Amino acid sequence: MASAGVLSRYRVFLDLPAHTQVVTLLEGDTPLIPVPRLGAELGGCDLYVKFEGLNPTGSFKDRGMTAAISEAYGRGAKAVICASTGNTAASAAAYAARCGLRAIVLIPEGKVATGKLAGAVAYGAEVIQIQGSFDDALSLVVAISEKHPIALVNSLNPYRLEGQKSAAFEICDSLGRAPAWLCLPVGNAGNITAYWMGFRQYHQHLGTGLPRLLGVQATGAAPLVLGYPVEHPETVATAIRIGRPARGEQALQAAEESNGRILAVEDEAILSMQHRLAQEGIWVEPASAAGLAGLESALHAREIEVRGQQVVAVCTGHGLKDPDSITRRMPAPRLLPAELAPLEEAIIQP
Ligand code: F0G
Repeated sequence: MASAGVLSRYRVFLDLPAHTQVVTLLEGDTPLIPVPRLGAELGGCDLYVKFEGLNPTGSFKDRGMTAAISEAYGRGAKAVICASTGNTAASAAAYAARCGLRAIVLIPEGKVATGKLAGAVAYGAEVIQIQGSFDDALSLVVAISEKHPIALVNSLNPYRLEGQKSAAFEICDSLGRAPAWLCLPVGNAGNITAYWMGFRQYHQHLGTGLPRLLGVQATGAAPLVLGYPVEHPETVATAIRIGRPARGEQALQAAEESNGRILAVEDEAILSMQHRLAQEGIWVEPASAAGLAGLESALHAREIEVRGQQVVAVCTGHGLKDPDSITRRMPAPRLLPAELAPLEEAIIQP
């Protein structure tokens, strides 16, 4: 297997067993895109988008998956399993395919965006829909992986977090230090946990400083804000439609240690921020806009002050993952005969 990608780039910082055999799609090294216009609107901050939708399968999950699959493959596992709202499924399927492992993915019935389901199927995973939520699916994969020799590759798997730390390293490498704030969506809470581990570790070794973390949930799926599990989570941001986050405690601790916070935003605010990001040329799936929607909400409530400070928003998944979130809100494009006159009439202002 090739030896580039986040594992080889950051190997000294990643706690992986000796038997790990690198399985990579050259994930990571995603752009940190300055968005000055939006930054001016959002409290006058120096704003950057870490566009994780540009990973090989279209989401940040590839960073953790290269680690989890490399470990499983290296120890001779023959099959991997995960529960997923879609992105983890597609990523697990791709990396498993890459090294010939069987991939089984459990998804909540009818709630997975088209691009994610299509990805999992395209990469050859065995896809099973569960008559229940993501949380139900996660309980099932944990139980079956304890009973049978099938490697669990959800973020309960510690190697997933090791790989996902690499995004924090990249941000510090690009900016020369940690930003003042890092905003990101929170679902099962693995990513915010991994970012905090990564920032702390880099700071210990290189003195890069620590950001304050702003973790954002959708109001219909906000167990960490409410303080109790949500039995029937609902949100347009299906990626974070999670009621019992596996790493919820660690997420709360990370927010607290960083002097940050976890808050919730309405679906309308998420969709509106998705639209504003697209106006900057960055099309993300709904969940990925939650971080910035949360920043706006906190600024509005005068809970934080970011003027002149560096803020990084993690945009976790590409817009192509969930095209329906756009098309179902739009009228179909207008249809004209293939003639000049009606075209002129349609687009040229008098
Ligand atoms: N953004 C996107 C696009 C996601 O797919 C997810 C999680 C998150 C944010 C939240 O990350 O769970 O680490 O807090 N998706 C998982 C999945 C649950 O199955 O693909 P988290």
